[in-house]
Amino acid sequence: MGRPFRVGIVGCGQMANTWVTCLQREPDVEIVALADLDLARAREMGVRHGLEVPLFAAVEDLLDEARPNLVVDTAIPEARREICVAALERGCDVMAEKPFAPTRADAEAILDAVARSGRRYLVMQNRRYEPHLRAIRRAIEQGLIGRVEQIHADFFIGAHFGGFREHMEHPLILDMAIHTFDQARFLLGGARAETALCLAYNPASSWYHGYASAVCAFEMEDGAVFSYRGSWSAEGFRTSWESTWRIVGSQGTVVWDGSTGPEADVVVEEAEGFLRPSRRVRIDVEPMDEQGHAACLREMLEALRTGRPAETESTDNVESARMMYAAIESAAIRAAVHVADGSPVAPRS
Ligand SMILES: NC(=O)c1ccc[n+]([C@@H]2O[C@H](COP(=O)([O-])OP(=O)(O)OC[C@H]3O[C@@H](n4cnc5c(N)ncnc54)[C@H](O)[C@@H]3O)[C@@H](O)[C@H]2O)c1
Repeated sequence: MGRPFRVGIVGCGQMANTWVTCLQREPDVEIVALADLDLARAREMGVRHGLEVPLFAAVEDLLDEARPNLVVDTAIPEARREICVAALERGCDVMAEKPFAPTRADAEAILDAVARSGRRYLVMQNRRYEPHLRAIRRAIEQGLIGRVEQIHADFFIGAHFGGFREHMEHPLILDMAIHTFDQARFLLGGARAETALCLAYNPASSWYHGYASAVCAFEMEDGAVFSYRGSWSAEGFRTSWESTWRIVGSQGTVVWDGSTGPEADVVVEEAEGFLRPSRRVRIDVEPMDEQGHAACLREMLEALRTGRPAETESTDNVESARMMYAAIESAAIRAAVHVADGSPVAPRS
């Protein structure tokens, strides 16, 4: 076992509970401090989890006084840059909740701090640790449907959260679609998106102030097209939180409703004719000991222990985040943009 992890938790709201529970199972992890702008929340978290540790209101005080070597940022996205840059600059590795950062400028500032400090920034993408999704990726890698050329995800859940999401400009894209964008990249073996075209909208009956609905199309670097249709203000026929998926390859299609077993429909080899005969193939799903947060956290810790890259290492995960920034930038100018930097895509000549 490598050096023990001395962990400082910054942001003691709802999500931090899951992290603390998972961290307390690890033999080489010691939670050494808690911080929250609202000290009462840090105090409640300590009591709830039996942690008798110093409490701080400011991340800088936690860093200077408790001297963690790993900071967990479970605060709100708007505070991510401040918390993570401070922690990286003081020599800590950082694990943060999704999204990577709420803006492109914040993401670049965090990447700069990673490069300057030589420390690591890892992001929670719990929805890629799902057994059906992993089974689909394995089936794709084994060539079940040939070369993947189209991938389509639908997400429709009328979610009445109340609170901050109802006041964000882009609640769906920043708070939810990031999961789906990252899942699409996962299914495509980590492919980056090159261009994005997005229409963000807010139906008259929506209870959100910002754009809680969007239709997006991405051109991926491997030539596939990924489409996303999502809404948090759509009542009726709710989809799964994982979205419903249709993945179309050169030899067939995988469909997945996001909760039950995925299925493939594959053309019979050398078949000809107007509508080619096809056969249904069940995709074997291997059970996972741990899923979601527990699995992603364990993978990130293992990556730090061994020095290998994590699945959600900053250099990779920023590519999922850039899809989010590009979608928002495209929606603003009502035209396609490059995912790498948000610049407009020239029209086809
Ligand atoms: N992965 C998932 O499935 C999932 C689900 C829900 C939320 N999240 C993410 O988790 C993060 C936290 O969400 P939540 O639902 O727990 O929110 P929350 O509002 O319950 O908690 C956030 C806490 O951060 C504190 N905070 C804000 N700014 C701070 C700062 N500068 N320094 C210290 N503390 C600060 C707030 O006082 C609050 O206690 C967000 O990034 C959110 O997107 C992820």
